[in-house]
Amino acid sequence: MTVATVSSTQARPAIGGPQDLFNSTRNTIGLPTIVRGEDIYIFDDQGNRYLDAISGAMTAQLGQGNRRVLDAMHAQGMQHSFSYVRTTRHLPNMGLTERIARLAGPGFERVHLSSGGSEAVEMGIKFLRQYAYATGQKTRTRILSLMPSYHGGTLGTIGWTGDEDAAAVWGPMAHFSTKIPAPLSYRPPGGGTSREGALFSAARIEAAIEELGSENVLAFIVEPVGGQSTGANVPDPVFFTELRRICDRHGVYLVFDEVMSACRAGTFLAAHQIPDCKPDVVVTAKGLGAGYTPMGALLAPARMVDELAERTGFNLSHTYGANPISCAGACAVLDETVERDLLGNARCVGAHLRLRLEALKERHPVIGDVRGQGLLLAVEYVRDRESKEPFSAEVFASDRIRQIGLKEGVMLYSRRQNQGRYGEWSLIAPPLIITESQADELVDQLDRSVAEFTREMVRSGEIA
Ligand SMILES: Cc1ncc(COP(=O)(O)O)c(C=O)c1O
Repeated sequence: MTVATVSSTQARPAIGGPQDLFNSTRNTIGLPTIVRGEDIYIFDDQGNRYLDAISGAMTAQLGQGNRRVLDAMHAQGMQHSFSYVRTTRHLPNMGLTERIARLAGPGFERVHLSSGGSEAVEMGIKFLRQYAYATGQKTRTRILSLMPSYHGGTLGTIGWTGDEDAAAVWGPMAHFSTKIPAPLSYRPPGGGTSREGALFSAARIEAAIEELGSENVLAFIVEPVGGQSTGANVPDPVFFTELRRICDRHGVYLVFDEVMSACRAGTFLAAHQIPDCKPDVVVTAKGLGAGYTPMGALLAPARMVDELAERTGFNLSHTYGANPISCAGACAVLDETVERDLLGNARCVGAHLRLRLEALKERHPVIGDVRGQGLLLAVEYVRDRESKEPFSAEVFASDRIRQIGLKEGVMLYSRRQNQGRYGEWSLIAPPLIITESQADELVDQLDRSVAEFTREMVRSGEIA
C-alpha cells in the first residue's frame, strides 16, 4: 500500500497555522498577528501599533481591555456560569433585557437574546413567521430586502442578503428574498438625485408586494444605515416615510437590521432618528457585546410577543442564548455606554471626523464621496469623479489603501461591492470611545495613505 508522504500543511504552509487555511491565500498575505490591545489601538508581534479604525468588525465599541466588562464577566462566571434559558430564569438575562428595553423605548418591551447578528436576524424573521402563522396569516412567507445589503452568513440570512454574486454558489440551496434596488445616495437607482432614487426604490417595493400578492409577503428587512455592503449608505428620509406607508398598507412587517448601526449611528437605535418610520421589530448584535462576548438581540413589542405567548409561544432558541457570563458582560457594556455618554461621543466626534474626511475629499480627487452617520462612516474611492467610475479589479483601490494604511499605523477594512459594480470604499467606524485628537490622528493616517496611493496611480499611468 502506498502511504501519502505530503501532508496538507506541507502542501500549503500557513503562517498562522490551521486558522489561515479557510481563507483565500490572497487575503492572508500581510495579515498582522495581534498580540496586545490598549484603548483604541492593537499591537502586532513585530511591535507595530495600529489605530483600529473599524473596531475589529464594527464591534469593539469600548476599545480593548475594559476592566469593568471583564470584571463583570469574571464575577458572573464565579457566581453562576451556565444554565439553560428554556429551563431556568437568571438575573443577568433579566438585567440585560431590561436595560435594552429601557434604552429602546416604547414598542420594544420584549427582548430575546441570541449569540450574534445572523442568529438575531433569523430569530427576527422566524418570530414574525410564527406570529403570522399563529394569527391566521398562514400564506405570509415571502421576504423582501435590498440589493446590495448584508444580513448575515447562515443559509437563511444569505438568502436575504443582497449580493449579486451569491446566487451562483448558494442559489440552489438558500431561499432567496425578492431584491429591491437599494436607495444609494451616491449612486441612486434610476440615475436621478438621491431623493429620486429613494422614491424609485420605494415604488419598486410596492410593485413587488403587489406582484407577489400582499397576502404572501411576511416582511421587509433593511439596514437603516448601511454597513459594509453599501459603505454606510444613508437613504434620503423620504425612503423611510414611504416604506412605513407601504408596509402599513399591505400588512407587511418591517424589520430594522441594526446589527451594525445600533449605538454607532449616535442613538441607541438608528430608528430613533427616523420618527416617521418605526419598525415592527429590530435586531441588533455587534456592539452589544462590544467584542468581549458574542451577543445578539431581537427587540419586539409586548403586544405581539404576549399574544404569541398565549397562543403557541415562540418555540426557538439556541444553547448559548442568554448565556449568563455573556449577559453580565453586555450589561457592563451598556452601563459604560450610558454612563460615559458614548452615544453623545459618537455624534460629536462622528461630526468632527466627518468634517475632516470631507476636507480630505477636497484635496484628494480619488475620494468621490464621504457619507454615514455618527461613527459609522465611509470614504468611497473613484478613478474619475465626474463619471464616478471605480478603479479596476487589478488596482483594487480600497485594498491597496488598506495595505498602505497598515504601514501608516491604521487598521482599515476594504470592500469592492459586487466586483465594483456598486463602487468601493473604506468603512471608517472606530470605537465609540475615540477622542477628537485620536480622530485627527486617524484622518492624518488616511490622508497619507490616500496620498501614497495617488502617487502610485500617477506613476503607473492609471490616472493623470
Ligand atoms: C447589518 C448586519 N446584519 C447581520 C450581520 C451578521 O452578523 P454576525 O456576523 O454577527 O452573524 C452583520 C455583520 O456584519 C451586519 O453588518
